[in-house]
Amino acid sequence: MKINLTGKTALITGGAGDGLGRADALALGKAGAKIAILDIVDASETTALLKENGIEACSVICDITNENDVMEAVSKIKETLGAIQILINNASILDTVGFLGDISPAKWKRDVEVNLIGSANVTRAVWPDMLEAGWGRVLFMSSIAGTLGGAGQTSYSATKAGVIGLAKSLALEGGKQGITANAIAPGVVETKTAGEFIRPDMAERMKKQTATRSFAKPDDIANLITFLSSEQARHITGQVITIDGGASLFTF
Ligand SMILES: NC(=O)c1ccc[n+]([C@@H]2O[C@H](COP(=O)([O-])OP(=O)(O)OC[C@H]3O[C@@H](n4cnc5c(N)ncnc54)[C@H](O)[C@@H]3O)[C@@H](O)[C@H]2O)c1
Repeated sequence: MKINLTGKTALITGGAGDGLGRADALALGKAGAKIAILDIVDASETTALLKENGIEACSVICDITNENDVMEAVSKIKETLGAIQILINNASILDTVGFLGDISPAKWKRDVEVNLIGSANVTRAVWPDMLEAGWGRVLFMSSIAGTLGGAGQTSYSATKAGVIGLAKSLALEGGKQGITANAIAPGVVETKTAGEFIRPDMAERMKKQTATRSFAKPDDIANLITFLSSEQARHITGQVITIDGGASLFTF
């Protein structure tokens, strides 16, 4: 099966660093899509890498919690690369760790605003063009913390469960118009951000409880994202696709 995204423009939020967003951008770009990155910090390192690989790309600095800035950023992207048909809602705050009583209301609010409302803001900004085109792919980065819960991760977990509701509802709202919406639930993926709060002893323990005995690489997720963004995945919608090496299987 050959995936060809030529003629499509993909928007990836949170692709500035060396994390999943960058891997997604490269994979979608190599499949032929034009790539736009939207991040709260400068993403020119990622766009330079994309251009080195012959991929048409641009980036805009934007805080996804600011609805007006998001609308403005999306219209700038449209002027440069054309209307967006593929949206990867990847930007998130991942580092809120602590039991319920230790997570301040301010942190809760920030996590909900970025991870959940921010994803809705970006989706709202691209949705009318997808409806008009009669084709669209919307993906939300959830997590097994969203499907299974996670001790010490109440706010993160709640927002990652929230985007599953968004994906399912949008699948129903856009299905007749050729738009699919899905959520992806990875286990641990080896990114710099994940490495900052998973200590080596925790990592070893978690790997032992995982069928493959390994964590995902960013490319594992990017390959799945590329498939779900393609025409070939047109009948998959409203789903949560777990990609965790079997970490969520029952072990004893
Ligand atoms: N790494 C993992 O183990 C793992 C596991 C499951 C799910 N995920 C999900 O995958 C996604 C990417 O994770 P990652 O490890 O690559 O993280 P990352 O920290 O590398 O990427 C997150 C990006 O979001 C951007 N961002 C944060 N707040 C923003 C805002 N307000 N506006 C715009 N951009 C903002 C950051 O600048 C950063 O570039 C996240 O949604 C995360 O929840 C990651």
